[in-house]
Amino acid sequence: MDIAKEEETHVGEFQALLLAHDKEQEKKLEEGKKEVNELLSD
Ligand SMILES: [Fe+2]
Repeated sequence: MDIAKEEETHVGEFQALLLAHDKEQEKKLEEGKKEVNELLSD
């Protein structure tokens, strides 16, 4: 469980780096969020 919690932080670190270095990342995050919301609403 400790390792799983650390990985949740690693996701945040990776996301912060992508947002800092990839101009397209904000758009991609929104696209991903939309896809998941569509799957969850089925
Ligand atoms: Fe990790």
